[in-house]
Amino acid sequence: MDERHPLDPPEEVSLDDSVLGGMGSGYKGVFITFEGLDGCGKSTQMELLAAGLRERGYIVLVTREPGGTALGEAIRDLLLDPRYHGMSTRAEALLYAAARAHLVERVIRPALEDGQVVLCDRYLDSSLAYQGYGRGLGNDDMITLNVWATECLFPDLTLFLDLDDSLRSGRLAAVPDRLEAEDEEFHRRVAQGYRELLTLHPHRIRRIDARGTEAEVQERVRAVIEEELELFSH
Ligand code: TYD
Repeated sequence: MDERHPLDPPEEVSLDDSVLGGMGSGYKGVFITFEGLDGCGKSTQMELLAAGLRERGYIVLVTREPGGTALGEAIRDLLLDPRYHGMSTRAEALLYAAARAHLVERVIRPALEDGQVVLCDRYLDSSLAYQGYGRGLGNDDMITLNVWATECLFPDLTLFLDLDDSLRSGRLAAVPDRLEAEDEEFHRRVAQGYRELLTLHPHRIRRIDARGTEAEVQERVRAVIEEELELFSH
């Protein structure tokens, strides 16, 4: 994590080796993303965190990917619809990137400029893990595509909620969406992808043990937020 405080003025954003490693969003606001495999409990933890931050007086925007805008939700419907099983992997990567580009330009960047705390359920690490590793499209191309799509907007902090397969499977929807319906091998590659991302970007991505009660996990989430961004003591 760099030395910048959440309320410091924006910095000039430049693309270099540290780009995915913790350069941060460069804005007055704070950009936090949540990642993990399907059923890890991200959405609940985000809502709990948002409530806690609002109590502290922050203006918090909660959004999700793919989605968060009318266009994004329409793209989401296409992406998750099991009828499109067998969609070309490049089309899939481009659709995720398209939804992201629109969400960043219309929702996330304006909120960060305004000094808000933005919590996003999944962001570019999902594309690296699912498309880059899971589909085998490779990290480099996914980074290039997403750097372009987001015009270099990277999270200040990413929380990876880590939960065993056996515990996650109990939380999955009865009717799997197109991604959930992929075979075990695909999900194993995605999980491996996340592990590699954690190793590659230890300053930006923090692992959260997602076992236990919602309150226990939330305590861990807040401890990391406090350690990295000092939002609760500010
Ligand atoms: P969603 O129902 O939001 O999953 P979850 O509740 O687990 O977050 O569906 C999003 C699915 O899309 C999920 O399986 C992960 C996948 N995905 C990608 O493959 N690439 C991406 O860039 C994003 C954002 C999501």
